[in-house]
Amino acid sequence: MTTQQLRELFLDYFADRGHLVQPSAPLVLHDDPTSLFTSAGMQPYMAAFRGEEAPPAPRAVSIQKCLRTNDIEGVGFHNRYATFFEMMGNFSFGDYFKEGGIELAWDFVINVLGLPKDDLYITVHTDDDEAEEIWHKNIGVPMERISRLGREDNWWPKDRWEGPCGPCSEIHLDLGPEFGCDKPDCTVGCDCDRYLELWNLVFQMYTEAEDGALTPLPAPGIDTGFGLERLALVMQDVRHLAETDEMAHIMDRIVAVINEQTGSNYAYGDDAHHDLALRIITDHLRATTFILADGTTGGPSNEGAGYVLRRFIRRAFRYGRQLGATEPFLHKAIPAVTEAMGQHYTELGEKEEFSAQLVRREEERFASTLRQGMNMFEEIALELQQARQDTIPGEKAFTLYDTYGFPVELTVEMAAERGLKVDMEGFEQAMAAQRARSGRGAGLATAEETISLAHLPATEFVGHETQSSTGKIVAIVVDGEETQRAKAEAEAEATVILDATPFYAEQGGQTGDEGIIHSSEFEFAVRNTVSHGDKVLHIGTLKRGTMQVGDEVTAAVDTARRHAIMRNHTGTHLLHAALRKVVGEHVSQSGSLVAPDRLRFDFTHHEAVTPEQLAEVERICNEWILDNRSVSVAEMDYDEARDQGAIAIFTEKYDQQVRTVTTEGISMELCGGTHVSSTGEIGSLHVISESSIAAGIRRIEAITGTGAVQHHRQLTDQAHELAAELNCPPDDIRAHSSA
Ligand code: SER
Repeated sequence: MTTQQLRELFLDYFADRGHLVQPSAPLVLHDDPTSLFTSAGMQPYMAAFRGEEAPPAPRAVSIQKCLRTNDIEGVGFHNRYATFFEMMGNFSFGDYFKEGGIELAWDFVINVLGLPKDDLYITVHTDDDEAEEIWHKNIGVPMERISRLGREDNWWPKDRWEGPCGPCSEIHLDLGPEFGCDKPDCTVGCDCDRYLELWNLVFQMYTEAEDGALTPLPAPGIDTGFGLERLALVMQDVRHLAETDEMAHIMDRIVAVINEQTGSNYAYGDDAHHDLALRIITDHLRATTFILADGTTGGPSNEGAGYVLRRFIRRAFRYGRQLGATEPFLHKAIPAVTEAMGQHYTELGEKEEFSAQLVRREEERFASTLRQGMNMFEEIALELQQARQDTIPGEKAFTLYDTYGFPVELTVEMAAERGLKVDMEGFEQAMAAQRARSGRGAGLATAEETISLAHLPATEFVGHETQSSTGKIVAIVVDGEETQRAKAEAEAEATVILDATPFYAEQGGQTGDEGIIHSSEFEFAVRNTVSHGDKVLHIGTLKRGTMQVGDEVTAAVDTARRHAIMRNHTGTHLLHAALRKVVGEHVSQSGSLVAPDRLRFDFTHHEAVTPEQLAEVERICNEWILDNRSVSVAEMDYDEARDQGAIAIFTEKYDQQVRTVTTEGISMELCGGTHVSSTGEIGSLHVISESSIAAGIRRIEAITGTGAVQHHRQLTDQAHELAAELNCPPDDIRAHSSA
């Protein structure tokens, strides 16, 4: 059975039993400061379990994209670990409880999957007599195959948190002695690969205070987690997660790409060491691709989700060296992730090119320093050995991090491979000292450069007033290093920083500007603009000539593209205001994308917006556009802006002095973006889709201006073609097509 068939089997089984199928919530969380990634299927429903929000339905089912890094060292070695994985789960919000949960799970495992009863083992929490009784009396599992375990194994989550919790019960499968460790006491719960935990049924009942006091939830519920990859391993009878169909497809491509690069013809299975490296690379590439496909993480960086990405890519790249790969290779295997999993996760295909580009750049950056870093690491290890010491000083680990881009976890792992440790305290101190020196708060703000730009002056942004201005180059960065000049020879990729710029840096959902920076000596095509603290970075390609720090230049934004962006940005404000009017005041923005060709607006709302409501929202927006309301900008104190009724985005942080964008008689929003000066410039606004992206979060996509005109042209052309085929006037298609 393929992994895709297993997905369908699970969703269908529970849908047939009254569960509402829910889409996966995003993998990268933005509004939860306590965790970077979704790590359990129940996470989108925390508030529902606590009774603070209505659940989507009394019974729900989902396959949630999850990511956990705590078991990363076990990935590839053991059969049960993956960083990215899919958690299948059924949920009851005050509907069925222990009995119903256990009966459904058993029925699915035995009667649908056909797993052998005699190989299944059950665990329950030490104090849970009730669950034990259900398993034994109702289901008929013999007592010798039920064990009681403590908090560590049968309480979820095992560490106290703010969310709901409760005792749990797990279904384990004995894979057979050939997977075992042969220790005499090897049994369920052993660290070896023999007893595989398949399904965790959590009886959500409480919240837990810091002192351990338990408060009952308003209504007890069920939250289950069944690892899809583990199930695929069992059903497909393979030894490792990376050998299951979808992952094997990705692994095959990685092997092919490396073979092509190295001229060898390695095959998985030829060498245990290489196979291990391949399993790790496969896992990390899949995780990387999913993080990027979520579309909310800029790219590898030194903080937050970006750092995890960096770590995955660099760790995978280092393992690639074991197979002889010294050039970037990972990005070339990304299409295989789409091929394997794109049917269920359509975002993979949409983001494929973007992901491959970011991964390639990260590989290139690391490749250029890896060899030197490895040499330095070898020297450090040798010195320690000679001095009969076993701890790498923190200062040295920091140099590896800061100069050679070794995530410190990588250094720790490489050290462990030689029986060495790293002085982590010393590392943290060196990191803090460097931050203090460069005046940086925490890490670097963007993915784009790992070098410190703190010595440079802040860039003056003149893009609200003009789209073309003169300025001076204050820095050029090539391959992560500052340089005085760059030549066009190899169409060099570079980053340019000016003292003043009209280019808008990507932020607040608005896409960064494109355009040209040039002088009589050179031409630099700007592909994207991002901010880095108070600096604006122009990223692009030197097309002609030589550019130097100090050059006087003209910076010209692509105005047609920028106008399209401005129309979509003001259009987003109109859409927001119209939604609040039609759907309700509770609508609040939870994300947005303002691109030249479309706008996307994510907002909180518990159910689908009806077609009638959507039509009304669109009608109101167009009425405001035709009214040609003025759009004005003002700077003021934050409190004053709030007093005047400005809408702020809940998850964003604002300075005391804020910028407001007011559309006459419609709305006032805190916003740093670029806008048209009156609504008539938008032309028209057309809603093209409405969908759910997570529990309680809807997404509307719309187009304006030339995009809307083109869209209507296409539809009209299609209507005419269809009319010609049906041999009727376009207005009569409906009658003729149903006839
Ligand atoms: N919340 C539990 C887990 O993550 C079951 O879904 O394992």
